[in-house]
Amino acid sequence: MVSPKARRTALIANVVVDAVFAATIILTLSSRPSAAQTSGAFEAFGGKAGLDRVADRGIDRVLQDPRIKDRFASSNVPRLKALLSEQFCALLDGPCTYTGRDMKTTHAGMGLKDKDFNALAEDFQRAMDDVGIPFRYQNILLAKLAPMDRDIAVYE
Ligand code: HEM
Repeated sequence: MVSPKARRTALIANVVVDAVFAATIILTLSSRPSAAQTSGAFEAFGGKAGLDRVADRGIDRVLQDPRIKDRFASSNVPRLKALLSEQFCALLDGPCTYTGRDMKTTHAGMGLKDKDFNALAEDFQRAMDDVGIPFRYQNILLAKLAPMDRDIAVYE
């Protein structure tokens, strides 16, 4: 039996952890370095196979995220995972060429807001944790994704 007091303490601890997590994401996304240092990042992610795992796990998390999962109801999931991995690989100066559509065309008309963008970024940060990417390399990829917000979402 868990006492109501213990349950309350656990709940408060959870809220604190979530707040710290949100603050980390906001700080990362707002730092916007002009030229993020990518040296060694592709290797640190485990090459293309490692990026495949990040894309796979990230989209699996997105598809379970009540904040944004409905957006992907009619998506071709394997194609999306493959394009994301390819895009991440190119962003980290790996040996890939991104063959998908540009971000503005892709997301035009979806009416995405900053909260949607931040939800997806949070899901991908958790996915990188899941597959054991060191924090400083997570930040390199997040810093590459952050400036894409202006083509994807409207800030309120
Ligand atoms: C850093 C943020 C994001 C990146 C890097 C990104 C990247 C991509 C890429 C590479 C594609 C495939 C392009 C193509 O079809 O040729 C795509 C498609 C798509 N994205 Fe995003 N995206 C981001 C944010 C979001 C957000 C926040 C949402 C909604 C919550 C979203 C919803 C979608 C949807 C619905 C598709 C179409 C998938 C399909 O039907 O195949 N994206 N995105």
